[in-house]
Amino acid sequence: MTDRPSSTQGPPPSVPRLEHHTLERIETVWLGLATVIALLLFTSVLASFLSGTIPSLSGEGGHQLTGVAKGRLDPKDIASTPFATPGLRENPDGTLEAFVVAKAFAFDPPVLRVPAGRPITFHITSADVMHGYQVEGTNINVNVIPGQVASFTTTFRYTGTRSAVCNEYCGTGHHNMIGRVIIEAPKP
Ligand code: CUA
Repeated sequence: MTDRPSSTQGPPPSVPRLEHHTLERIETVWLGLATVIALLLFTSVLASFLSGTIPSLSGEGGHQLTGVAKGRLDPKDIASTPFATPGLRENPDGTLEAFVVAKAFAFDPPVLRVPAGRPITFHITSADVMHGYQVEGTNINVNVIPGQVASFTTTFRYTGTRSAVCNEYCGTGHHNMIGRVIIEAPKP
């Protein structure tokens, strides 16, 4: 018989025992990691505020829309609202409004032309089921809910053509529900 240590003499020396010291060191590491994550979150949120990439969603965009009350309308009676003639319009006070109707499986207008560098208030509604309206490469991303009007004001900084996609599953044609926003240089 060799004199191997019996199991009653505790764990072999290669396994670190969880002493007060060890636990304290592990806790310090976790605290350090948590501090780094908190700092990263703080700076990224701050950077997003400073660069103006936060979404600027606003109620009715300061405009009263016929047939729309508190952001709601009757989806069966879109004809009596400005959504009857979707597209971009310039108001007498010089402000720009874009009306978009989402309907399985297209946006109306399918191609929206807007000027760069001018604030545009979008109003989007659905004529049937829930859709989404996300403009690729921008922070525009709203749910389009029947009976409700999604309104927000945005200014496009760059010219070019962007896809407007439906990002809410709405039926068999969902993946084909793609419109376009053409951002043009402002007319002099
Ligand atoms: Cu409309 Cu998906």
